[in-house]
Amino acid sequence: MVSFEILCIECGTSHDPSRPAYACSSCGNLLEARIDEAEAAADLAEGGHSERPLSVWKYREAIPIEDATQAVTIAEGGTPMVRCRRLEEELEVHNLWIKFEGANPTGSFKDRGMTVGVTKAIELGMSVVTCASTGNTSASLAAYAAAANLDCAVLIPEGKVAMGKLAQAMMHGADVLSIKGNFDQALEMVMTAAEELGMYVLNSVNPFRIEGQKTAAYEICDQLNGVSPERLYIPVGNGGNSAAYWKGFREYDSMDLTSGCPLIRGIQAEGAAPIASMFSEDRSELIPVEDPETVATAIRIGNPANWKKTVAAIKESGGSASTVTDEEILEAQKFMARLEGIFPEPAGAAALAGFMKDLDEELVDRSSVVVCVSTGHGLKDPDTAIAQCAKPRVIEPTMEALSRMLGGAGE
Ligand code: F0G
Repeated sequence: MVSFEILCIECGTSHDPSRPAYACSSCGNLLEARIDEAEAAADLAEGGHSERPLSVWKYREAIPIEDATQAVTIAEGGTPMVRCRRLEEELEVHNLWIKFEGANPTGSFKDRGMTVGVTKAIELGMSVVTCASTGNTSASLAAYAAAANLDCAVLIPEGKVAMGKLAQAMMHGADVLSIKGNFDQALEMVMTAAEELGMYVLNSVNPFRIEGQKTAAYEICDQLNGVSPERLYIPVGNGGNSAAYWKGFREYDSMDLTSGCPLIRGIQAEGAAPIASMFSEDRSELIPVEDPETVATAIRIGNPANWKKTVAAIKESGGSASTVTDEEILEAQKFMARLEGIFPEPAGAAALAGFMKDLDEELVDRSSVVVCVSTGHGLKDPDTAIAQCAKPRVIEPTMEALSRMLGGAGE
């Protein structure tokens, strides 16, 4: 296993990696895993990683897990990077890609974090795993807990989880608790319960989740033949994934496996944008949004636990965060579906919506190499999709009725 430390992002205090920990014992800030990059680079080369197929575990020498051969895996990662020719033409840009994380086994990027996080749960001897979730984390954790034969309890905001995600958590056998409150309240409860009841938390405050999710950035560089994109657009909810991508790009660059790092544009929904407002108001402290609301329920979060990590990451990249409206999100969702054949859930269209807005406002060079991360599959939220489309027309089972409907085509 690669040498690593679990360090506080603020005061640098080192924590025992053999004990579950999510916050610094001296100052309460977030923790992160710091791997020995030189060692990881040497081990990746020696292991012949460049010959392996794309997957999270392609990069096992850079993932702080005792024994990767024991990983709890259902074949996550290795998701498509789609060159968007029709969108390029429509938007008059020259180099646009979508990284479609909806193609992961449970339909979202969470699987990258869970394969590592749940493997770590086993390594630490934990028998119960838990999370708070707007839907995808619970779906993914439920699946990996099933594969690992662990008990799993998930807390979700009542009535605000898309139908597909709820079906997944229930079908995989998790204990699903619907909270009469929002995600932020559910997460607070989970953090308290975990300590009292000895459960392992697999929200993105868990540093090992981030270690899995960073592999998406490695993968993008590999898919671009060893270079980083110039810009990365990514939706921001709790702020874990954007921080994970930045960690991945930085590490891959310092291991000399790619050149350069992208500027990161974090995109939030207008009704749930506490991080974007820090940028627009030039503030250094987070002011939580009390009642976050957006059609993109995955990112309906008012008090993001990872705000410090993600704000630091976005700033270090030279980027910033901004907002899109629900209408802009739904428009981008339709664009992806109708021009590229990619069906994202609303949050999975927020990045493209952000890019389209930047183009409108002339904030981006049209020849830049741009990757928009599409974080979750559209089948997760069929209700929102159906509500935007014309209903199927019902006809009699006759050729006459068919040709009347199709305007005489084929006659
Ligand atoms: N996109 C999708 C589809 C998500 O499910 C989430 C987060 C995000 C983007 C934002 O990622 O929180 O790391 O900034 N979903 C979590 C959940 C909160 O519970 O499923 P983030």
